[in-house]
Order: sequence, then C-alpha cells, then structure tokens
Amino acid sequence: MKIAMIGTGYVGLVSGTCFAEWGNRVVCVDKNAEKIEQLKQGKLPIYEPGLDKLVERNQIAERLSFTTDLTSAVKGADLIFIAVGTPPRLGSGDADLSFVYMAAQEIAESLEGHPTVVVKSTVPVGTGDVVEKIIAAVRPRGSFSVASNPEFLREGSAIDDFLFPDRVVVGVEGPRALEALTALYSPLARANTPVVVTQRRAAELIKYAANAFLATKITFINELADLCEQVGTDIDDLALGIGLDHRIGQSFLKAGPGYGGSCFPKDTLALLRTAQDYGIALRVVEETVAANEARKRKMALKVIDAVGGDVEGLTIAVLGLTFKPDTDDMRDAPSIPLIETLQRFGAKIRAHDPVGMKNAARVLENVMLLDDPYECVRDADAAVVVTEWESVRQLDLDLMRQLMRSPILVDLRNVFGRGAAQAGFQVSSVGRPA
Ligand code: UGA
Repeated sequence: MKIAMIGTGYVGLVSGTCFAEWGNRVVCVDKNAEKIEQLKQGKLPIYEPGLDKLVERNQIAERLSFTTDLTSAVKGADLIFIAVGTPPRLGSGDADLSFVYMAAQEIAESLEGHPTVVVKSTVPVGTGDVVEKIIAAVRPRGSFSVASNPEFLREGSAIDDFLFPDRVVVGVEGPRALEALTALYSPLARANTPVVVTQRRAAELIKYAANAFLATKITFINELADLCEQVGTDIDDLALGIGLDHRIGQSFLKAGPGYGGSCFPKDTLALLRTAQDYGIALRVVEETVAANEARKRKMALKVIDAVGGDVEGLTIAVLGLTFKPDTDDMRDAPSIPLIETLQRFGAKIRAHDPVGMKNAARVLENVMLLDDPYECVRDADAAVVVTEWESVRQLDLDLMRQLMRSPILVDLRNVFGRGAAQAGFQVSSVGRPA
C-alpha cells in the first residue's frame, strides 16, 4: 500500500518505519526542512533503540522516504496518517489540536483518489468528526474516509510494541476505511493479534482511557509504597502478591517517584477536560493527577530526610534524569521537580544521565551535568537514583561509596537490593523499610 505519514515525531517516525518494514511504501512528511534533511541522511531526531537501523534498512530498500512536500506525498496514497503533536495548552491542559486541523486542511487541498485519512495522534473524542468536516468543506464531492487508529507505543520499546502489540484499535465509520486498515494490519492479524474494530469516537476514547488507567495503576502502587514504608514491609512483595491475580496483572506495579513523560501527564489532563465538557466527574483520574504531582515534589523531602533534615549547602548527586530509561526524553520527568525543590532548599546539584544530557541541559538550571557517573557522585553528600538505567544498576557500589563524602543513597527506583547496605550505604528506598 502507499502511505503518507504526516508528522515525523515519535509516533510518525516509528509507525511510518514499521509500516515500511511490512512492505508498504511510506513517505514521511514534516514541515521542518532541517529535520527532513537529517532524516534523509539517516540521522534521527529522537533516541529509540533499534530505530536507526530499521530506518536505514527501509530507506535502502526504497520503501521509506522523507519529504517536506505534503502534496506529492498525499498524491495517490491509499492511507494518509496524521501523526502530528497534540501538546497541552498552557493553563487549561486541553489538547492543542491546531497541528491536526492544519494537517487536515492541507490534506484536503491535495486530496485525490479515494484515500482513508487516519488520525494516529492522541486526540479528544470528536476530533475525527472535525477532521472529516474540514476535508469535506474543501472537497464537498471528494471521496475519502476518516478513521481513528491510536497508538500504544512506549518510548524505549516502541518498535517491539508496534510489531508485536497486545491489540490494534481501529475506529471506522464505513466499510472502505475498514477494508484499508484491515489490509494494512494483515501481518498482525495473521499473528493472531486481536484487532478491535469500533466506532471512531470509541477508538479516540480508548487511547485516553488506557493511559489514564495505567497512570492510576502506578499511582495506586505508589501510595501503597508509602504505606509499606510505615508498616515496615516491602512493596515489591505486595505488588507480586496482588499482581499474580490475572485480573490485576503484574505490569505497571513498579513503585517509584511518580509517572512522567510526554503521554500520561498530558493525556490524563486532556481526558479530564473532555469529561468536564460533558459534565462528567472522573474523580479517580482527578485524584491520580493530583497525587502524582504531589508525589514528584515529595520525593525531594525524602532526600532531605535521608540527609538528616537539611540539604542547605550539601551536594546531591542525581543519577538518571530522563522520565524513564532508554529514552532521551525529559518531558515531565520526575527529576525536574525533584531537583528544583532540592535547589530551593539550598542543595547544590550534580547530575548524570547516560543519554538525556542534551535535553536535560535545556530544562535544568544551575546543575552540573557530568558524563561520568563516578565523577557525578564524587564528594557528594548523597546520591539519588531517579531513573532505572541499566548502566546505573551496574554501578560499582564500593567505588561509589569511596568517592562520596557521605554514604547516603536514596534509591527512588529500588534498583539496588541488599548490596547497597552491604557496601556500607545508608539506603532509603521506595516502599521498603529503611
Ligand atoms: C505510555 C504508554 O505506556 C503507552 O502505551 C502509550 O502509547 C504512550 O504512553 C503514549 O500515549 O504515547 P510512555 O509514556 O512511553 O508510554 O512510557 P511508560 O513506560 O508507560 O512509562 C510512563 C511513566 O510511568 C514513566 O515515568 C515510568 O517510569 C512510569 N512507570 C511505569 C512507573 O513508575 N511504574 C511502572 O510500573 C510503570
């Protein structure tokens, strides 16, 4: 099939490349000429394990190409995906759909044949209806369909999530779009991946509901972790004990400093806005958002407690800055409020991240960023693990202990087990007795 992918951000680039991997001819479009030029040379704007090789392979096979020219990409395409950003509007938290609508307008102006326009960006309920109206206003007699096909990719494991998903969700209003999307996803159907075929509005809502549910699950285990600390028991045992019940499930029960990233914080807020518009109170989601925000700042108090109640003038080494491992993404990373709060209380911050330093330098102020984790902890009064990078797990605790001024370790991801105490550290973890 011939596919145009509008937007070469995270979703567009991963989806476009994987569609090409299945043998489709994919043209990825972006307004940013510099980005397109870089992509043509095989330089990716994001860090995602394995993506560079997949892009290269499909470029060489001439199944994947990049352009700024939307008109030529859309010409003759069977499927036109909209995968542009839907950032939160400042203040209100609702999704800014201007890029989606702009893409719809440009698609309409270039439309020919009988394509299916598929919204892949995460968009509030009813956006597909507006996209359809925008295109119909320009092409009243045009022959096209509009579908919703949300993505469920996680940064860091996006390619596997795309090629081996738990399910595919397809929201359609007619047979033509269903036929096109069924053909597109036939490699997955052959592998017995469930395909949920539903209305367009349902597909749009499924995406938000899934993210809000996962955010709630994390928040639940985080709150239970606080209780475990008080009653002197271990959150990982509790998570295992409940998670083995298949109705609960073991994933997303890892306690930590609170969820971050480009999706959960944005999507929970956008879902709340939609509910508000319809006069519905989603109290569980409201509480999740509030509890997670409070938690991220509370983690700074945990550090302050660990050093004896005052960080004024102390040097704190932060290990891991990105919102999770295997990404360079700093959006809504728990490390940001943690560092800002510690700085307000007078701490000096040194920090290390194996991949996210460039983005960290853009969002963090007055932080000494160090490429070497051991240099980062040198002479520190405490070390704080914020992101569970494998390279952080592998650190030599004895060496760290020797380099640091005080042997205080605040492990917000529970990456270090008993070994840390054995190495002489005074350890403070999440959901474990001190
Ligand atoms: C999330 C969803 O998992 C994807 O299914 C979805 O497609 C994506 O958002 C999106 O909407 O685009 P992502 O934000 O990449 O993916 O990362 P997750 O692995 O979900 O982690 C989100 C946050 O939750 C991270 O800060 C992570 O550290 C935290 N988390 C996750 C926990 O604290 N505990 C867990 O058990 C799991």
